[in-house]
Amino acid sequence: MNKKITILGIESSCDETAVSIIQEENGKIRILSNIVSSQFDIHKEFGGVVPELAARAHVEKIDLIAEKSISESGINLDDIDAIATTAGPGLVVCLTIGLNFGKTLAASLNVPFIAVNHLEGHALSPKFNASLNFPYLLLLISGGHTQYLSVEDLGIYKRLGTTIDDALGEAFDKTAKIINIEFPGGPKIEKFARKGNENRFNLPKPIFKRGGCNLSFAGLKTAILRIRSDIKNEQDRFDLAASFQKTIEEILCEKTKKAFEIYLNEKNRLKKTFVVAGGVAANKGIRNKLIKLSQENNFECLFPSADLCSDNAAMIALVGLEKFKKKLFNQLNFKVNPRWQLDETAKFLKGAGVKL
Ligand code: KG4
Ligand code: ZN
Repeated sequence: MNKKITILGIESSCDETAVSIIQEENGKIRILSNIVSSQFDIHKEFGGVVPELAARAHVEKIDLIAEKSISESGINLDDIDAIATTAGPGLVVCLTIGLNFGKTLAASLNVPFIAVNHLEGHALSPKFNASLNFPYLLLLISGGHTQYLSVEDLGIYKRLGTTIDDALGEAFDKTAKIINIEFPGGPKIEKFARKGNENRFNLPKPIFKRGGCNLSFAGLKTAILRIRSDIKNEQDRFDLAASFQKTIEEILCEKTKKAFEIYLNEKNRLKKTFVVAGGVAANKGIRNKLIKLSQENNFECLFPSADLCSDNAAMIALVGLEKFKKKLFNQLNFKVNPRWQLDETAKFLKGAGVKL
């Protein structure tokens, strides 16, 4: 049957207000519009996201962004088959705005409402540019999360490893802050790194040879704070960025090797697919290293396109589309879930004294 499915997705879990419209026809998914309004300028002077300011910006922008997204897509309101909205994890005041907007839109258009886990959006995001089939191994590297998961099916995840302290994006942003790069500094660290000597500073690699594919980055920040007084000129900053980038690449390669092993030991896998997603997956150095490692281990390595690595609503609409096809709809009393995990059975593994 040649039926078009059109989904409107909404994302407001942190500092991006985003609305996107996607359409599937004959098995082919197209992004008709994908509007993201980032709040960098609002938060940069604070060095991180201020929830109340973020929420206010979402309230001010969301209807305009939705209007723009609909008009850019060229569809009519009555073409929309369902509304998909991020319900967690994220900042509760921010999530609430998108969720209420999405529920209202669904009710007024009389179409199903679908609550989406933001992390599942990242997990499926390579599907826009590649053929992606379950199961696969996922490395999710974003500003708030760093995890290895086996993705068995839509909504079925098993966490294999996690950071026990900072998320990788957070580690990039904190390092950037120490060398006076504006928030969010991740992308700039990568640029600085290209001009530096990666062997200049010897940074620690916490739990490198233990703890399975769990990760830890807090010790890096402490080490960088200690050598801060050596950072005097532009070249020192480039060298630190390069040393940090190299250390992260080495940690990710070592931990990914371990994750491959754990993933393959879990079950007999006919096809070996490795997906890397989330904001930090835009980092070219990390991409290249993980592609090479995957080739050496006979894994197919997939990334979202660079513009779909960071937060966007197209990936939320995509989860909406997959859930729509399975008729996985939600009631309008669905509540935001700021700590919504992909694997809800996984143990909390954070803080001092954690046993790996
Ligand atoms: O997925 P995302 O947009 O938001 C969350 O869900 O957290 O990820 C944002 C994070 C920020 O920490 C940002 O600095 C980092 O991704 N990031 C990068 C790069 N681009 C974005 N980190 C390193 N290299 C990059 N090129
Ligand atoms: Zn995200």
